[in-house]
Amino acid sequence: MPVSFPPTFLWGTATASYQIEGGAQEGGRTPSIWDTFSHTPGKVEGGHTGDVAVDHFHRRAADVEMMAGLGVGAYRFSVSWPRVQPTGRGPAVQQGLDFYRGLVDDLLAKGIKPVLTLYHWDLPQELESAGGWPERDTAHRFADYARIVADALGDRVDMWTTLNEPWCSAFLGYGSGVHAPGRTDPVAALRAAHHLNLGHGLAAQALRSTLPARAQVSISLNPAAVRAKTQSPADLDAQRRIDALANRIFADPLLNGTYPQDLLADTARLTDWSFVESNDLAIIKHPLDSLGINYYSPTVVSSATDSHVVRNDNHGVSDHSPWPAADAVSFHQAPGDRTEMGWAIDPTGMHEVLMHYSRMAPGLPLMITENGAAYDDKPSADGRVHDPERMRYLHGHLAAVHQAIEDGADVRGYFLWSLMDNFEWSYGYTKRFGAVYIDYETQTRTPKSSAYWYSELARTGVLPDVPVE
Ligand code: FCB
Repeated sequence: MPVSFPPTFLWGTATASYQIEGGAQEGGRTPSIWDTFSHTPGKVEGGHTGDVAVDHFHRRAADVEMMAGLGVGAYRFSVSWPRVQPTGRGPAVQQGLDFYRGLVDDLLAKGIKPVLTLYHWDLPQELESAGGWPERDTAHRFADYARIVADALGDRVDMWTTLNEPWCSAFLGYGSGVHAPGRTDPVAALRAAHHLNLGHGLAAQALRSTLPARAQVSISLNPAAVRAKTQSPADLDAQRRIDALANRIFADPLLNGTYPQDLLADTARLTDWSFVESNDLAIIKHPLDSLGINYYSPTVVSSATDSHVVRNDNHGVSDHSPWPAADAVSFHQAPGDRTEMGWAIDPTGMHEVLMHYSRMAPGLPLMITENGAAYDDKPSADGRVHDPERMRYLHGHLAAVHQAIEDGADVRGYFLWSLMDNFEWSYGYTKRFGAVYIDYETQTRTPKSSAYWYSELARTGVLPDVPVE
C-alpha cells in the first residue's frame, strides 16, 4: 500500500535568518546576540560566524528560484529582529522590511507559501545588554516588533509563528550557555522561559489586532520525547522532572494557562516565581491556530547519584546544566544508529510527540515545523551529492507522521530542516542539515539526492521508497 498524505498537506523546507543570511552589517542591521557570541573566541566551533553564512541576503532571488525548481509548496523562514528594528526599540528600518517584502513577493510569485517566524534566536544585542529575556521588558519589546512586522507584511503572509523553540533560548542561552548570549545562571533561565512565554502571548495579541482574520498564529516548540532508562521510581522521577522543564513549562501555560505545580516545587530552592504577575497566564494562553512541533531525537534519562553531570544536551557540551534544579539526572543516547550530530534516530519519538499533543489539545491543528538530519555529505566524482542516510531518516520519520495521522492526529504539514546547509549554531558550518549542499568557498548550491526525493514527495503526496544508490 502506498503511504499517501492528504491532498491539502503542506510540504515545506525551513531556514532561519542568522543561519543563512549573512549581510550582517548591511542595510542598517545592528548586532544580535549571535553576532556577539560567535565573535567571542571559543564559543563556536572553528570560530565560525554568521557574517556571511550562505549569503542568502544577496542571493535571495536565486534561492527562491531554486526552491521553485524543487517544487516544494511552502517555505518557513525567520525575520532578523535587528535587521528590521535595529537595537530592538523604536522605528523600523525600511531597508530591512523591504528585504523580507521582496522575499515574500518572490515566493508568492512562484506559488510558494511563506511561513514567517518572528524570533529564531537573534535578539538585538542592545536588548540583551539591557537584561535580555530574563527581564520582563523584553517581552514588551517583542510585541512591539511583532506589530511592526505584521503591519509591513500582514497583507501577504498568512502563517505567523511567534517564537522558535523557546526552550533553547531560555535553557541553552541562559542555563548551559552553549547558545547566545552564553549565560550560565539557572534563575535567569527560568525567568527567561517565563518572559518568552509572556512575549509569545503579547505578540500573539499584537498579531491578532493587526493581521487580517484569515491569518494564522502559531508557535514552534521542540517537545522532548522523554523516556526513563528503567522503570525504577528514581528514573521515573528523573523523567517527570525533565518533562516538566522540557515540555510542560511551555505547553501548560500556552494551552492550559497554568505552570505545573511539580515544576514550581522542584525549582522552589532557586526561585519563588514571583516574576509571574497576576494577568500573565491569561495573556500566554492566547488561542492558537496551530501548534508547530520540531522533532529530531528522543531523550533518555535516569537518576544520577553524581550531582554534577556533564552532559551533551544535543546542542553542545557544557559543564553547566541547562536543567535548573535537576542536577541529579543523567542523560543517555537512545539505542540505534545516530546522525552526524550524535543524535539517535528514533521515529517512534515523532509519533509519540504528535499523539501527545493531539490528546492534550484536541482540535488544535499540528504542523511539523522542523525535522531532519545532519550527515557528512560530500560531492562525489560525478559532481552529485548522494545522501541515502538522510533519505532513510526522512522516510522513517515521515512514515511515523503518517501513522500519527492514521491514529487521529490532525497534522497539517511538514517542513524539512533545512532547505540548505547553514550555520549550525555552536557547531558552526561543521554540520550539514541541508537538502541542498553548499560549497562554502564558492557559495555554489547543489541539490542532494534527498532534495529530489523530497521534491517527488511534495509533488505526489506519496512517500517514495529510498532509492538504492
Ligand atoms: C533546531 C533549530 C534549528 C536547527 C536545528 C538542527 O533546534 O531550531 O535552527 O539548528 O535544531
